[in-house]
Amino acid sequence: MRKILVTGGSGYIGSHTVVELVNAGFEPIIIDNYSNSSPEVLQNIEKLCHRKITHYKEDCNNEEKLRKIFLDHQISGVIHFAAYKAVGESVENPLKYYENNIGSLISVLKVMAEFSVNSIVFSSSCTVYGQPENLPVSEESEIIKANSPYGYTKQVCEQILIDLIQSNPKFKVVLLRYFNPIGAHPSSLIGELPIGIPNNLVPFITQTGAGWRKELTVFGADYNTIDGTCVRDYIHVVDLANAHVKALEWLQNKDENLGVFNIGTGNGVSVLQAIKAFEKVSNSSLNYVKGKRRAGDVEQIWASNTKAEKELNWKAKYTLEEAMEHAWKWQLSLGRKTEN
Ligand code: UD1
Repeated sequence: MRKILVTGGSGYIGSHTVVELVNAGFEPIIIDNYSNSSPEVLQNIEKLCHRKITHYKEDCNNEEKLRKIFLDHQISGVIHFAAYKAVGESVENPLKYYENNIGSLISVLKVMAEFSVNSIVFSSSCTVYGQPENLPVSEESEIIKANSPYGYTKQVCEQILIDLIQSNPKFKVVLLRYFNPIGAHPSSLIGELPIGIPNNLVPFITQTGAGWRKELTVFGADYNTIDGTCVRDYIHVVDLANAHVKALEWLQNKDENLGVFNIGTGNGVSVLQAIKAFEKVSNSSLNYVKGKRRAGDVEQIWASNTKAEKELNWKAKYTLEEAMEHAWKWQLSLGRKTEN
């Protein structure tokens, strides 16, 4: 069984990916400092997998600790999730983002090189495209400088990996450019657990539905879109997790050194359409108001996913409604409480 080091493996996307890796016969090894997750996630991953998962509560900026993991295990590849992801916070505290997101990738890459581990899947984002001129956006679209330090760390990390391929012909990279991950595992054992007030739309919707928040503000209703609200490509987190399994298979089977793939459904969904989908599956009406635009939001983006379908043999299976239903079930499993 191939051992895969999963940095940030108890986070939102990481935890779902660990489960899918086990389902596909890989042996994931988690390193996570729990800065945006909790050790209980691990217990639920283990419940879902019916087995123990090797894990290290460490920061992957710490090369010594990483080295120990590589000494203890014969790692054959790495999936690097560990990173901060709040766009607004990155604008307020750019150094925190540059240090952690770029620094941790460099530490991981240095230790991989010491142990001659040559395969990595990197968590990138559709944020690298900014507001694309043509939709749906394909992998060949121009990369324009991101308008947040968070987005810029994704661009810089992509470039670091591409530069490494030039210097080491054995090095192989898959860049997965995620669109908007939503939903939770259908079992409701794992899901998204934002600390404090959520930045992202779907946790805010479900927390409002559950009474944790009083109301949702729709950020801008005067965009040039179908109903005036921003359009995104919302992808079920389990579909996204499966893309990582396919990416590892690609690394194993293809002779190419670099694979770049959009991971989205190919469908654009407006904020109001997302709210409607939630209202349908929860059989309730959501308390929301239309408010001002949020600084830095792009108007609309959705993926061309034909490359991932053809070359990775990956396809999104879940619908928007199923993703909302799983997000809602997950929210309900966390209990109702008053606004915090
Ligand atoms: C952003 C990043 C994305 C990153 C993700 C991680 C950009 C362009 N996108 O996604 O790369 O991976 O954060 O967190 O930088 N909305 C509301 N009310 C709310 C919250 C959101 O109306 O309370 C709207 C937003 O204006 C947006 C949509 O919902 O139109 C989705 O927002 P969000 O979930 O925050 O994701 P992005 O900003 O698309």
